[in-house]
Amino acid sequence: MRTTALITGASSGLGAEFAAQLAARGHDLVLVARSADRLEALAERLGKAHGITAHVLVQDLSAPDAARRVGAELADRGLTVDLLVNNAGFGTCGRFEEIDGSRDHDQLMVNVVSLVDLTHELLPGMLARGRGSVVNVASTAAYQPTPYFAVYGASKTFVLNFSLALRQEYRRRGIRVLALCPGPVETAFFEVIGTRKAAVTGRFDSPGAVVRAGLRALDADRSYVTPGLSNFAGAHLAPRRPRGLVAAIAERVTRGVRDAARVA
Ligand SMILES: NC(=O)c1ccc[n+]([C@@H]2O[C@H](COP(=O)([O-])OP(=O)(O)OC[C@H]3O[C@@H](n4cnc5c(N)ncnc54)[C@H](OP(=O)(O)O)[C@@H]3O)[C@@H](O)[C@H]2O)c1
Repeated sequence: MRTTALITGASSGLGAEFAAQLAARGHDLVLVARSADRLEALAERLGKAHGITAHVLVQDLSAPDAARRVGAELADRGLTVDLLVNNAGFGTCGRFEEIDGSRDHDQLMVNVVSLVDLTHELLPGMLARGRGSVVNVASTAAYQPTPYFAVYGASKTFVLNFSLALRQEYRRRGIRVLALCPGPVETAFFEVIGTRKAAVTGRFDSPGAVVRAGLRALDADRSYVTPGLSNFAGAHLAPRRPRGLVAAIAERVTRGVRDAARVA
């Protein structure tokens, strides 16, 4: 039976890699982002390479009605979605008062609101069919407060906890929910932020390795995964309390990143 995966942020980085690996597994695709030309090129390439059908759905996910529009477009085209990959996202960096408030607003719309709204759009159909999966891309930033990335880190903490909660609600009803929590990955993410120093560890994973780890974790019905040994260690071995002290230590680390982003 053919299954369809919808991937947000499929025009670049981890999203494009999810598209490639899921196409190689034989899934049809719905590719969502703003960059129509990139999505069209990817759809054509993956269709030819893997004999799958890839649909392009151009949508700005910071728009308040984005998920409703995606849902309406899927209904118009007669498409059902078996796997939702909520991957689209971006980060802002700097002192909170220096960051454009509308940029932070859009960040929350893309990283958080559209992710919840799309899940509302697509989960009921999965439940009705008795099967389906949701992969939400969080980050190692989810595990502690991230000064100078205050909104980004908090958005990813939301994504992680939202995913873990949903998984518990739906695990006995045929629905898998996975939070993928990568550390720094070699994508355009850091161009958007303005400095590669935002990869605090200085080490980058490849999108291919991160997505492979994510799909393996989904196959194994895990609740979350942090690919890479050093990311795993940072996420699981570092103390999380007292919370104020953890935030103070994090500030010492991210201060340098803030300064690098300012001069970049
Ligand atoms: N790279 C890392 O180090 C890293 C680490 C941990 C987590 N992550 C997370 O991984 C996810 C993917 O990021 P990436 O690293 O692959 O970065 P990327 O290469 O910059 O890709 C970001 C994707 O999000 C899409 N996007 C951004 N704003 C959008 C909007 N308003 N509407 C629709 N789509 C939008 C972009 O598409 P368009 O510009 O075409 O719209 C693009 O396809 C993000 O959630 C990010 O937070 C990344």
